[in-house]
Amino acid sequence: MLIKKTVFSAIQPTGNITIGNYIGALQQWNQIQKKYFCIYCIADLHSLTIYQKPNILNKNILDTLAIFLACDIDPNKNIIFIQSHVPQHTQLSWILNCFTYFGELKRMIQFKEKILFLKKNNNINIGLFNYPILMAADILLYQTNKVPVGKDQIQHIEIARKIAIRFNSIYGKNIFTIPEKIINPNKGSCIMSLLNPFKKMSKSDSNSNNIINLFDNNDMITKKINNAVTDSDIPPRIIYDKINKPGISNLLSILSNITNNSIKNLEREFKGKIYNDLKKSVIKNLCIFLHTFQKKYYKYRENKKLLNNIIVNGSNQAQKLAKITLNNINNLIGLYNK
Ligand code: TYM
Repeated sequence: MLIKKTVFSAIQPTGNITIGNYIGALQQWNQIQKKYFCIYCIADLHSLTIYQKPNILNKNILDTLAIFLACDIDPNKNIIFIQSHVPQHTQLSWILNCFTYFGELKRMIQFKEKILFLKKNNNINIGLFNYPILMAADILLYQTNKVPVGKDQIQHIEIARKIAIRFNSIYGKNIFTIPEKIINPNKGSCIMSLLNPFKKMSKSDSNSNNIINLFDNNDMITKKINNAVTDSDIPPRIIYDKINKPGISNLLSILSNITNNSIKNLEREFKGKIYNDLKKSVIKNLCIFLHTFQKKYYKYRENKKLLNNIIVNGSNQAQKLAKITLNNINNLIGLYNK
């Protein structure tokens, strides 16, 4: 029997999950679940690196689980669990801390960006700095082969690989599987802000006009896409060119991914048309897509019993696997077994 390769990925339960998160991550998670053995995680511990109101975090965790289900991620075929329910993540994270260098973490782009952003509220905590190590522990605990993520996470996958290779070279070649990234092949690895297509669309953006939230209604979608930045090419050309036409390329990317129509096809369809035609099509298709998504979401979100069952089963299944790796590591590094 062919053994399926293992996939691991996670998302922070920090509200405002965007069409960028969907296209860069959740859509891929769905598409690969037939081919791989997939483990999908709600990274609640990662979200603590920014102060979270307790009642809102609590609610967001269940919301995120219902979002997974509404994206047709099947809890019977995959393991879905909450990071803090599997203590092996933080245990391995501590061990990996001791195999990671300060200089390596200092070079993380996301850390540098976040400290600029957080300077105002003075919460540049050590969790924010250590964040990629917890992420490495998440991935390495499950002997993961593939990690589907958006482009912003590539550097974090690289450091997870580096730590794993370093550990293997000290204790023996095959202790950790070396993970590889999977990136959306259809130009969706980084969906950009609507008003500034040079900047990533981000959940934490304080200007909601920059993002399409998965819970936006038709009016919001219409207003935001109509305001999205394009360019002043004369005559207008609807082609994918990320450098010279970032706004149009972003809209093409969104449309292509939510309709499963290739960018090449869309360029042909929109040849000779004006930007407003493209926007109309993006609006129409986003409204259809999000309406269907939201209907499914509310059905799952109301079913507390189903959500609780998934959480309990998921953490049991994940713990079984996590314990195997962690026991092995503890033995190897010389910790005393009872
Ligand atoms: P998070 O919660 O910021 O984002 C979740 C996923 O969404 C992708 N993403 C995007 N993709 C395309 N365009 C965008 N504009 C966009 N914005 C976000 C992210 O790349 C990510 O795949 N550290 C992670 C969560 C995490 C994790 C892990 C991921 C914790 N442990 C282990 C993989 C493996 C994060 O904060 O993702």
